[in-house]
Amino acid sequence: MKQLIAPSILAADFLHLEKEVSMVNESEADWLHVDVMDGKFVPNISFGMDIVKAIHSASTKPLDVHLMIEEPEKYIDAFRDAGAEIITVHAEASVHLHRLVQQIKQSGARAGIALNPHTPAQILENVLEDIDLICVMSVNPGFGGQRFIYRTIPKVRQINAMCQAVNVSPYIEVDGGIGLQNAEAVLRAGANVLVAGSSVFRSANPKGVISQLKEIDVRNLII
Ligand code: DX5
Ligand code: ZN
Repeated sequence: MKQLIAPSILAADFLHLEKEVSMVNESEADWLHVDVMDGKFVPNISFGMDIVKAIHSASTKPLDVHLMIEEPEKYIDAFRDAGAEIITVHAEASVHLHRLVQQIKQSGARAGIALNPHTPAQILENVLEDIDLICVMSVNPGFGGQRFIYRTIPKVRQINAMCQAVNVSPYIEVDGGIGLQNAEAVLRAGANVLVAGSSVFRSANPKGVISQLKEIDVRNLII
């Protein structure tokens, strides 16, 4: 499949959120990535469900909500009600990951699991068949604009192989430090969703960057 592009609203100009969401609406982006941070699971606080609701009211793209929070089970229904189409939780934030995945699906959202850069792919083994998306963090979560960690590329390849081995095809999303300089390498490793914050919103031509990310063609290249 052609890769999906999910601009991350964390890098947007919050004073002009409506304008930023409209830019994404008019672009070739597929989803809008929304980073929720609680100041506990990650050392930063972003925004909560009311802002997600406001973004949802302006967005024509499905919201891909990335919860970087402790006790995510307490907030699944609230984020679903706020308009999340996909809800991604961190494997490191849950002792009952299987139950949490079921809870997300029961809410009506699609379920994603995110892995910090140091978390091994094997943690997914017993939930692989239950999930709709895997988010491979290519920076330590908490902030936009960080440098891409190249050592996460083999993990993308490994996750892709794990999925093929059991014949499932969840989205494989890569999040953090993605731009035109590394997107091809990530796609070649088997990712099919690119999250991009700073490289889109901090560019002079955000829609142009989104198109360029969308146009990268790796289908004829050997992985
Ligand atoms: C990091 C967030 C990312 C971030 C990506 O904690 O999960 O989604 O917004 O931003 P860039 O592309 O600037 O690294
Ligand atoms: Zn994110």
